[in-house]
Amino acid sequence: MTDTLEGREIFKNADHKIVIAIDGPAASGKGTLARNLARRFGFAHLDTGMLYRGLGYHVLKNGFDPENRDDVKQVLTGFLDILDDNYLKTPELRTDETGSAASKVAAIDFVRAALLDYQRNFKNLQDDNTFGVVLDGRDIGTVICPDADLKVFVTASAEVRAKRRYDELVLRGYNTDFDTVLDDIKRRDARDSGRDCAPLIAADDAHILDTSDMDADQAMDHVLLIIKDHLF
Ligand code: DC
Repeated sequence: MTDTLEGREIFKNADHKIVIAIDGPAASGKGTLARNLARRFGFAHLDTGMLYRGLGYHVLKNGFDPENRDDVKQVLTGFLDILDDNYLKTPELRTDETGSAASKVAAIDFVRAALLDYQRNFKNLQDDNTFGVVLDGRDIGTVICPDADLKVFVTASAEVRAKRRYDELVLRGYNTDFDTVLDDIKRRDARDSGRDCAPLIAADDAHILDTSDMDADQAMDHVLLIIKDHLF
């Protein structure tokens, strides 16, 4: 039934650029879902976690502590100067060490404020033939794009998420073990959900998608049904 929701043309007559907000914890499947939706509709995609990963990596590379506000403040302006598509492709941004540093800098209020415009502006940077954008992160539906056309909060049990992350790391050649990955996921969940500033939380009007027993195709099919019901 969702086969009819194909291609960029279906959003051609919308009177504004469509915004899809995908939030959720680490390794919930939100990134894959966001990428698949963007590909399906020809939308532009911003993985906002990479912004925090980029800063976390920059802080570590300069020998600073990602939990120390003064340290982070010192390198923030320099980071904003080098922040571009190319920098966000740096392979080291994908490691768990960088993910953990990202989670620490992401809890700092002035960091979130500095990255707000970049994220909100993303939609305006797209050409007329791109009819929408997909942003994925932790606070897209609550803070960055509270007026998004569609909000999905993707979740899965910590064990399932740790298994996915573990398999991915092994595939990429990293030497790690499952318990270390599970611990890291739980620590990051606690930090991302427990912080004062823009904590990880589903927006009131978000659709909750638990992917514990779903693969990427099934998750995509669920969201296509939601889109069909709510956007058409
Ligand atoms: O999605 P990710 O694992 O690549 O994100 C890395 C960290 O960045 C995550 O632990 C929390 C933070 N983050 C955030 O606070 N807000 C976002 N919109 C995206 C990521």
